[in-house]
Amino acid sequence: MKNFKSYTYILNLAQNLTEGEDDFISNCANISSLIFNNIEDLNWAGFYLWKNDRLVLGPFQGQTATTRIELGKGVCGYSAKDKITYIVPDVHEFPGHIACDLSTNSEIVIPLIKEEKLIGVLDIDSPKLNRFSEEDKINLEKIATILIKNSKI
Ligand code: SME
Repeated sequence: MKNFKSYTYILNLAQNLTEGEDDFISNCANISSLIFNNIEDLNWAGFYLWKNDRLVLGPFQGQTATTRIELGKGVCGYSAKDKITYIVPDVHEFPGHIACDLSTNSEIVIPLIKEEKLIGVLDIDSPKLNRFSEEDKINLEKIATILIKNSKI
């Protein structure tokens, strides 16, 4: 059963889960589960990783998803290209949005950057319109920072 938590709790757990483990894929797997199971109104949470000049599906929670995304395609591809977080209140209005789970209505994508290099993106989807706020952005970016700091990449 899902039991939703505050960002203070989630950030503490993100740090505790990753500080003793430097394997990036293991940490991505745990972080996707942490987000998916503790934040309200989500239908997908996971990673696309930058490999051979495109984004490739990494650890995630939710329905099956597209495996490869080109730079500049979909919300993930925009976030990767521009290296900024994208909050999309209504995915149906985002040009080129890639629909994986038809129940998705809003989305946030956080780029993973280490020493100015793109590592991948953290992609989170919600069935609710306009689900993601500035508070979500700030805290999810903090989670991405913890993940990168504690992992060997
Ligand atoms: N909607 C994303 C694609 C990934 S799925 O949502 C998991 C996008 O437009 O980039």
